[in-house]
Amino acid sequence: MKYQCNNCGAQSLMWEGKCSSCNEWGTYEELAETESSTKSSKSSASHNNSLQTKPAEKLVISEFYNSKKKKGAKAKVDSHSRISTGFSEFDRVLGGGIVEGEVILLSGEPGIGKSTILLQLSDLLSKGKKVLYVSGEESSAQFANRYDRLVGITESSKLEVTTEIDTDAIASMIENEGYDMVVIDSIQSLQSPRSRGYPGSISQVRISGQTLMRAAKDNNTAILIVGQINKEGSIAGPKVLEHLVDCVLYMEGEKFNAFRILRSMKNRFGPTNEIGVFEMTGGGMVEVTNPSEVFLQSDGNASGSVVSATLQGSRVVFIEVQALCVERDGGAGPMRRVANGIKKSRLEMLCAVLSKRGGVFLGDKDVFVNVVGGLNIADPAVDLAVVAAIKSSVKDNPVSNKKVFVGEIGLTGEIRKTVGRDLVEKEGKRLGYEVVTGVRYVGKV
Ligand code: TYD
Ligand code: MG
Repeated sequence: MKYQCNNCGAQSLMWEGKCSSCNEWGTYEELAETESSTKSSKSSASHNNSLQTKPAEKLVISEFYNSKKKKGAKAKVDSHSRISTGFSEFDRVLGGGIVEGEVILLSGEPGIGKSTILLQLSDLLSKGKKVLYVSGEESSAQFANRYDRLVGITESSKLEVTTEIDTDAIASMIENEGYDMVVIDSIQSLQSPRSRGYPGSISQVRISGQTLMRAAKDNNTAILIVGQINKEGSIAGPKVLEHLVDCVLYMEGEKFNAFRILRSMKNRFGPTNEIGVFEMTGGGMVEVTNPSEVFLQSDGNASGSVVSATLQGSRVVFIEVQALCVERDGGAGPMRRVANGIKKSRLEMLCAVLSKRGGVFLGDKDVFVNVVGGLNIADPAVDLAVVAAIKSSVKDNPVSNKKVFVGEIGLTGEIRKTVGRDLVEKEGKRLGYEVVTGVRYVGKV
């Protein structure tokens, strides 16, 4: 007798109250004897059959290539096989549009705007292509309301919609109807009869993902899958899909800020770390083609505000880094280092370097740093700007907003050239900035 966790699919010979693999409680169920035995006998039967009838096909590489070409599958991705989404920012992140048969995972926190942008995109695409929107999270009425609000339902709207949540039924629709693109909103709402888990569990997500992947590749249908994640980083569901799909996109931003950043984390057919910027408005998502306008809002008069630049994919984005340093009340309570937009550990390191090597002691101060506009930056090129902003705040000495600070800071206080520095200088010059050069040591900032 065997038991299986209906959350992650782990199996055990003993019943467990708490699954030792995913730590969920009360998820173990007895695995029906018949199910496992019929499954194995079936698979061995088909295995035997195939042995007797026809061996698996194998071809020399040149024949393989030609046969694929004849069948119409793309052996090579060229610009012609891409479908433009109608949003140039979305296309940029994908590397020029959606590739036929590509499977894309779009993850993000609930409420960030995934359904909104995908609905706008499907509507644009449905004008020339056959598109299906699987709305598993919203009822037909909710969907129709949203559609009407965003684009307006007209006689000429050709977008097809279903609230079907059975993965196999959706796969057979893909097979029979010849869609160019299908949107699955969301993978957590789908249910495959071949998994015993509840919708959204790891085993369900995995099986549904595999089924959709196969359907996409067999029918040359592009599939955009929505994966919900939450703030605690419980991305276990969509995470299991990441290695499976061709492209992983994240939509991020602050709930109370209208800007949304679309980022590619994995891309088989294009660049990674490219970003697209959107603004959430009352009428849906609007693209922001010059993101520097959004992230640079400084008027240059306040201390603690410094301009920096970061290379995001192929584009230089200018940003404003703000810092506020305040004396701690008699040293009570833990020292605070609050970072918004950069990693807290990076801020702690920069504070330590500044204290020890930069002549600005921060041990008696709380430090708050914020990157304006809600952009999260992993690029160490902003180190110099963070340090300059902290120093400016401590000395209450404003820095000109025509100066751009870029450079990575090491533990000995040295300032290093970063990737894309030349591009930043070129772009800075073009826009009338002075890129701060010649500073080699943190004490000289
Ligand atoms: P939604 O696309 O449903 O998010 P997700 O699919 O990622 O969960 O977005 C929901 C939020 O967006 C909700 O707070 C309302 C807001 N919104 C707008 O601001 N403008 C709009 O045109 C729409 C449709 C939603
Ligand atoms: Mg949604």
